[in-house]
Amino acid sequence: MFDNLPVPGRNDPCWCGSGRKYKKCHAASDERMERLWLEGEQVLPRSLIKTAKDIDGIKASAAVNMGVLDYVGERIGVGVSTMDINRWVEDYLAKHDAVSADLNYEGYPYSVCTAINDVVCHGFPSEDDVLADGDIVNVDMSTIKDGYFSDSSRMFCIGEVSDERRRLVETCHESVKAGIAAVRPWGHLGDVGAAVNAVNIAAGFSTVEDYGGHGIGCEFHEDPFVSFVSKEGTGPIMVPGMCFTIEPMVNAGKADITIDKSNGWIVRTADGSDSAQWEVQLVVTEDGCELLSW
Ligand code: MF3
Ligand code: CO
Repeated sequence: MFDNLPVPGRNDPCWCGSGRKYKKCHAASDERMERLWLEGEQVLPRSLIKTAKDIDGIKASAAVNMGVLDYVGERIGVGVSTMDINRWVEDYLAKHDAVSADLNYEGYPYSVCTAINDVVCHGFPSEDDVLADGDIVNVDMSTIKDGYFSDSSRMFCIGEVSDERRRLVETCHESVKAGIAAVRPWGHLGDVGAAVNAVNIAAGFSTVEDYGGHGIGCEFHEDPFVSFVSKEGTGPIMVPGMCFTIEPMVNAGKADITIDKSNGWIVRTADGSDSAQWEVQLVVTEDGCELLSW
């Protein structure tokens, strides 16, 4: 088989743990993957396909992740520092028997990423960064609960935001929705990024190329890498049970970014223009996808 993983006998229990016979469970899907692979398509290993138990675990993790973002949304506003947000996150996670997936991830030193205005992603919470009237800020939250990973982010408009900033935030959100609409089983992952990018380009904005979405669930960052500047009909095949994020970073100006040399993390637009990001996590289903975290 294309992924060198074991194939059960047709009357044996399916590899997914459903308890059903293989022939009544994943056999047809596996055969379709094998056929596509033989036709030269990029087909990812079945180890990325989430079982029903995995999806339940991811949903429990996602419930906490979204709870954190709701909690932040109820409190955020003028005068709040991004370190206040980091503290709220830690309090909420502790009360819900979960931990941040960000903290200590490849040495990342905080429990959440906060990105104000020209910060593209991986912004450090700080006592010195106090939200002011007119700011736009992304809060990117990732949770581990019972070993399962969830990840989503939202934009918040602080006080009276300029029309142009609001348009950036809304366009980015629309581009995520277009990406979600492009998810269909047995389609190409490149269709998703193409749909996202088309919305942003049409609005006169640019989609960051250096970062993308990712598989997620049993690990924080799994295959596939999800580009948001991809071409239709390219990339790996989306298969029911695959779980990944859609999380474009959209710049008002050019797509180029710089990484802060003093810490190796904080990403900003190279031209100082504003940047927005929304992130959702989903699972591919038989007829499209189901959102898990947003
Ligand atoms: N939450 C980010 C993502 O969407 C990853 C942040 S990693 C960190 O994939 F270390 F910066 F927190
Ligand atoms: Co992510």
